[in-house]
Amino acid sequence: MEKVSKKYWDDSWATNKIPNFVVPYQPGLKNYPKRYWHQYFCDVFSGMETGKMKLLEIGCANSVWLPYFAKEFGFKIFGLDYSEIGCQQEKQILSEAGVEGEIICVDFFSPPEAILEEFDVVISFGVAEHFEDTTACVQAFSKFLKPNGIMITIIPNMVGLIGWIQKLINRPVFDIHVLLDSQDLAESHKLSSFQVRDCSYFMSTHFGVCNLNGIPTKSIEWFIKKVILLFLISFSVIIWYFEIKIGRLSPNKITSPYICCVALKLES
Ligand SMILES: C[S@@+](CC[C@H](N)C(=O)[O-])C[C@H]1O[C@@H](n2cnc3c(N)ncnc32)[C@H](O)[C@@H]1O
Repeated sequence: MEKVSKKYWDDSWATNKIPNFVVPYQPGLKNYPKRYWHQYFCDVFSGMETGKMKLLEIGCANSVWLPYFAKEFGFKIFGLDYSEIGCQQEKQILSEAGVEGEIICVDFFSPPEAILEEFDVVISFGVAEHFEDTTACVQAFSKFLKPNGIMITIIPNMVGLIGWIQKLINRPVFDIHVLLDSQDLAESHKLSSFQVRDCSYFMSTHFGVCNLNGIPTKSIEWFIKKVILLFLISFSVIIWYFEIKIGRLSPNKITSPYICCVALKLES
């Protein structure tokens, strides 16, 4: 049912560099996506007493978002992943960021009872689209949420231009994704007893979402594809420049890099 194995994730985290922390107030074009995300999360959490809430990130390996949620919103943070090396890295990220949090190394399909219905917010970045049965995956995530808790499911938009480029430059990575549009993602949440607050495309463009993972670094193939990718990323940066100067372009199914779903768990 999962389109990719645990070994795949272990191997990718073993060679992965720890990413830069999210600094939402840093100016400049390079930080535009982080500011965009920050504005999005401020909207999602507005009116919520986040300082008294528990947030769980599913698939937390190597994530810089947990320290961000702790520092910016005061959440008590938890991360879950089944990759031991990914969990080790996440513990290192929390320690370097100087924030307290708990990392739980388990498979989300067979969680310990103690963490069921424990969290006010459950969030995932790029996890749900790796499962053939999206609804079964969303239902598994839902078990961690308290009734009336908020689920935030973020996936790359592989049905648009980003997916097409990913398929062209690195087919094996494209193939580990299930193709979902915003309606499909919303439907999986509705079928899992959620009330969908919003399920929509995010940002106008960001070719940095495409990746060359698995292609031997510094090979001719890698070099050529890297140049193509850098050219496309520069194009995104030019668009961001005009968005800062003139105003944001509408996110849409064709060019947006992500799909974000925010849904409320209904009481059973
Ligand atoms: C695309 S990565 C998530 C992205 C990552 N958090 C980041 O910031 O780049 C997907 C993660 O989900 C984890 N994962 C996949 N299936 C899982 C499962 N059944 N139980 C727990 N973790 C799982 C993988 O180990 C991997 O770390």
